[in-house]
Amino acid sequence: MVQGEKKMSEFKRPDGRKNDELRPIEAKVGIIPNADGSAMYRSGDTVAIAAVYGPKKMHPQHQQDPSKGKLRCTYNMLSFSVSDRIRPGLNRRSTEIGKITEWALDPVLDLSKFPNMVVDVHIHITQADAGTRCAGINAASMALAQAGLPMKDLVTSVAMGKLDRTIVVDLTKEEEDWEEGEGPTDIPLSMTKDGKITHLQLDGKISPSQLKEAIDLSRKACAEVYEIQKKALKEAIEKNE
Ligand code: CDP
Repeated sequence: MVQGEKKMSEFKRPDGRKNDELRPIEAKVGIIPNADGSAMYRSGDTVAIAAVYGPKKMHPQHQQDPSKGKLRCTYNMLSFSVSDRIRPGLNRRSTEIGKITEWALDPVLDLSKFPNMVVDVHIHITQADAGTRCAGINAASMALAQAGLPMKDLVTSVAMGKLDRTIVVDLTKEEEDWEEGEGPTDIPLSMTKDGKITHLQLDGKISPSQLKEAIDLSRKACAEVYEIQKKALKEAIEKNE
């Protein structure tokens, strides 16, 4: 028997999910009446809310782009989102995730008709159990759509992972801290409905063939999430009719 084979057959996720099984998902659009668009996305114990304001005049002025409008995303994990209180305010991690969220969403958004303007997306994580950037991107994507901004598609995001040698979808924090064998690899990624990847990060080690396996598996997961996002948007539209 090749070393590792036994482990693979004995592999069990801590919460008993199948390798390709997402956590329970909940999505709601229109949760913040004052915003131009808003949404909530929950994956298990991870909850993100997003609020969109704009397009509005870009301030500070030196950041204005006369050729198009800009997307500006801020990401914030609330103090009470994990059991160890998080220090409020921006930090390196939140600044990076805000930028990544912009890169994930920018390819589907057409702000060419809004020169010198900005679309602000505020993402807050109310509960965190890993996959918060993905939950934030899913919520932001729905909120932008509700705001009626010109979009080619929704963006759907999921955190893929490799635990020891097994590829799984939608890691929990417990899984992100996996200590057995090769340990954990975290691969959050985002894509459009037709499978164009707009964002992919990789924290850990993985072979090219297993990365391909992870991306292939993520397409099925993203298709499931996409249907939930679409349903939440439809429900919000029907409620307003
Ligand atoms: O949340 P995401 O997986 O996108 O990003 P991460 O930086 O890999 O963080 C993974 C998880 O670690 C978060 O979802 C939280 O559950 C936890 N975390 C924490 O407890 N305290 C922090 N300051 C940052 C993250």
